Amino acid sequence: MTKPPDNRQLFQIKLALFLLCLLPFGRLIWGEYHDNFGADPVAFVQRWTGIWTFNLLLITLCISPLRAMTQLHWLLRLRRMFGLFTFFYALLHFLSFVGFDNSFSINEIANDIFKRPFVIAGFAAFLLLIPLAITSNQWAIRKLGGRKWQELHRNIYLASILAAIHYWWLSKITALYWPLAYSAVLGILLAWRVQERRRKAMPAPQNQAAKPLKFFKQKPD
Ligand code: HEM
Repeated sequence: MTKPPDNRQLFQIKLALFLLCLLPFGRLIWGEYHDNFGADPVAFVQRWTGIWTFNLLLITLCISPLRAMTQLHWLLRLRRMFGLFTFFYALLHFLSFVGFDNSFSINEIANDIFKRPFVIAGFAAFLLLIPLAITSNQWAIRKLGGRKWQELHRNIYLASILAAIHYWWLSKITALYWPLAYSAVLGILLAWRVQERRRKAMPAPQNQAAKPLKFFKQKPD
């Protein structure tokens, strides 16, 4: 790992990742076409889109620590795409609940929320993601100013905590391994950020960043 990728290589990396991120959506299209969603299609689509929302949320949160560990600064240029895919799957997940499960009927949705209150935590996480998706472009960064934009985008931490609560809450007591695993990964990613903030708040010589992993050290151009 030496030089950062040039624009062409970066485009190729982005394209490959874009197509990879579309695979879970492809599974839904394939399932619809071949009628292959198992015995309970609504539950399948809800779980599939829910878990992929969470996967992409965690991948998005991995970018900054990965960049700090490897000093591969160009990784930041992938973050927006993962963030937008998180929102894309959250939107599908939300639509599967209001449309697929409840036929867009306000009464049915209200009854369902009453029966399954864990939906509220998921819905709150989804609401927090909306402004982040809308402002994920250069125009919004310019309009808001870097500082405000960063503050707004810190809502991703709250959204991820709400997503973890949603997942714990909906899971049966006998099947808590996955929520536990997802929460553990999320806990590590959030703890890293807390530690970074503390480090940056320290006076000069003590706030040195941890050395990048040897393998990733950049050679001078
Ligand atoms: C950031 C937002 C969200 C995340 C990360 C998320 C994540 C998840 C996950 C991981 C599951 C379980 C998948 C499994 O069992 O394998 C799930 C299920 C579910 N979620 Fe969400 N969710 C979010 C938002 C929402 C919203 C907005 C709604 C509805 C308004 C919702 C309603 C549901 C329902 C109904 C289930 C199915 C529960 C069942 O199996 O009976 N979620 N979600």
